[in-house]
Amino acid sequence: MSQRKALITGITGQDGSYLLELLLAKGYQVHGVVRRVALEDPEHRMSRILPHLNEVQLHSASLESYPSLHNVLARVQPDECYHLGAQSFVSYSFDDEFSTFNANINGTHYLLAALKEVAPRCRFYFAGTSEMFGLADEVPQNERTRFHPRSSYGISKVCGFDLTRNYREAYGIHASSGVLFNHESPRRGFEFVTRKITSGIARILAGQATELRLGNLEARRDWGHAREYVEAMWLMLQQPEPNDYVIATGESHSVREFVEVAFDHVGLDWNAYVRESPELYRPAEVNSLLGDASRARATLGWRPKTTFEQLVGEMLEADCRALGVAAPGISSAHHR
Ligand code: NAP
Ligand code: GDD
Repeated sequence: MSQRKALITGITGQDGSYLLELLLAKGYQVHGVVRRVALEDPEHRMSRILPHLNEVQLHSASLESYPSLHNVLARVQPDECYHLGAQSFVSYSFDDEFSTFNANINGTHYLLAALKEVAPRCRFYFAGTSEMFGLADEVPQNERTRFHPRSSYGISKVCGFDLTRNYREAYGIHASSGVLFNHESPRRGFEFVTRKITSGIARILAGQATELRLGNLEARRDWGHAREYVEAMWLMLQQPEPNDYVIATGESHSVREFVEVAFDHVGLDWNAYVRESPELYRPAEVNSLLGDASRARATLGWRPKTTFEQLVGEMLEADCRALGVAAPGISSAHHR
């Protein structure tokens, strides 16, 4: 059997980097779409995939340009395409709805339209999200739960989800959407709350900060480990028929609980450091998310393994180690 080829958009992000490693381990020839500027400054812009730069073929293209995506697909002729590239920060989508829509809606549309033209047998994965449920009217949320997005990010992802389903139904593309709940890791961007907390604690321990300013501490999320969630993406594209799958742990915690567990882990009292700042509240908040991944368990055989406490500990240890700080709960083992 010839070597399978995969194309990943968003390969420089948290999920892209784990997916790259998974596909390399499975013997794929991996191609990645990156922004042109990334190729000029790999040290900073490709930090998550630096160890694998000689094992992956990178192509510069823009999610805002149909011809650039068409060219890459025509040249690579992938067997599988994982579309992870997106403006993924919900907060920022309130500041700039336009660039969020351009990247997330047009980018998905251009990619699907090009796929239909030049690689119609390529299997397609769309990075859907629990943000599509938003103000959910049932708990837990599954594949049949109604969408009620609360941000332009959420709206853009509902549109990408609908586009993906429509290309499946109208043109027979093997196109699947993962409806992934929050997933984190030591590679999470610093702007997301989990990494903001663990890196903030490391800075406090290193004497570089004296407080941690956060927004809404009562928001609840279903947090899993990114390394496990990319396995679900791959499993979806191995199924004979395309479909949509919720991927979640089935356990939810508040931001406050994340803070408590994290500060506890290093023996600090969080009350002495955390300040709740109303200016960090969102204009429309998604208060609570909890996923039901029964379909993924039954059809894909997928289930989460990392516990909430293990996830917090792994992220904290990595951030403390990066700053060279020691603390009661921090071991010397290396996680990445
Ligand atoms: P991430 O770390 O923010 O990575 C986003 C990727 O998209 C990066 O490679 C980034 O490239 C690229 N990108 C952003 N804007 C772009 C643009 N205008 N043109 C081209 N590329 C652009 O996100 P992630 O956590 O890995 O998430 C991967 C995907 O899953 C995203 O679509 C996200 O919306 C979705 N998702 C994430 C979660 C989660 O909890 N992590 C849950 C559900 C769904 P640069 O490095 O060049 O910026
Ligand atoms: N970022 C951030 N910063 N969030 C904070 C803060 C803070 O200082 N304080 C409280 N929060 C709350 C937010 O209001 C939100 O309710 C929750 O923490 C989680 O925020 P984020 O970590 O930014 O993640 P998100 O849930 O908005 O979005 C992430 O998960 C989605 C899946 O549900 C992103 O990865 C999205 O791309 C993804 O689709």
